[in-house]
Amino acid sequence: MERDFLQIPDFSRDEINSLFDIADRMKAGKYKKRPLEGKSLAMIFMKSSTRTRVSFEVGTYQLGGHALFLSPRDVQLGRGEPIADTARVLSRYVDGIMIRTFAHQDIEELAKYASVPVINGLTDLVHPCQVLADLLTVRQQLGDVAEQRYAWIGDGNNMANSWINAAYVFGFDLTLACPEGYEPADHLLARALKKARVRVVRDPMEAADGADVVNTDVWASMGQEEEQKDRVRAFANYTVDAKLMTRASKKAIFLHCLPAHRGEEVAADVIDGPRSRVWDEAENRLHIQKAIMAALMGGESI
Ligand code: CP
Ligand code: NVA
Repeated sequence: MERDFLQIPDFSRDEINSLFDIADRMKAGKYKKRPLEGKSLAMIFMKSSTRTRVSFEVGTYQLGGHALFLSPRDVQLGRGEPIADTARVLSRYVDGIMIRTFAHQDIEELAKYASVPVINGLTDLVHPCQVLADLLTVRQQLGDVAEQRYAWIGDGNNMANSWINAAYVFGFDLTLACPEGYEPADHLLARALKKARVRVVRDPMEAADGADVVNTDVWASMGQEEEQKDRVRAFANYTVDAKLMTRASKKAIFLHCLPAHRGEEVAADVIDGPRSRVWDEAENRLHIQKAIMAALMGGESI
């Protein structure tokens, strides 16, 4: 059976640590294999992307393979061809499918009918490749990811949910500050609580208190553009600014998956300041996704 990567808990903690080791070797230029030689990755994008698209395409090429960019305007999926049929047909041509889409159910449907690995490039529910890149950044900057304390400030969105999934796998301490009505997914929170100390609070300062990693994301995610005005009101006190960063630990770093809105969820002097690691974080998308593809599509053992 082919393995998919739809959510962080699809990998065990040991497997993720092994992916980090491979990604570090790739980053250092020490990984010389070409596990995707002669292989193709179909990349379906139902939403926009800079980082995900470029890092997967370049990463596939660097591992010896070839990637196809498929937008709804290019493929029949955009004209209503069933996901199941698309999955079965693509599986006859390519060796892996990366998809960015809306409903998480759609990626589960794709994975069910595909006979090649399916990788989640973001759904409304989760963004697992991003949070693995974030954890890799934490490991490179601060050491053991399980030993750090994490703060999430803002929307209980796909990124927040992926952090909750990461807490579940690694058992770390995560505090999320979300306004009422913008909390993360209940079922993911309930599962994480069995293994980790995860709290949802209202006060951003409380979440930031003593945190080693402070994270945020846009107030309106892709597909929520029409809610922007209401959200600006709801998130008014949730900007990660210099004052909030003073509540974090001395060694604290700031992460943001990008794209960012300076002056909304993050102040310019934080994202462009000395604690920010957002460019390393963006670079790590390339390394971790290469490690994931090498494992799922290229036979690399993890
Ligand atoms: N962080 C992230 O996934 O960026 P893109 O939307 O540009 O792919
Ligand atoms: N939460 C954001 C992440 C973008 C990478 C979104 O879904 O639009």
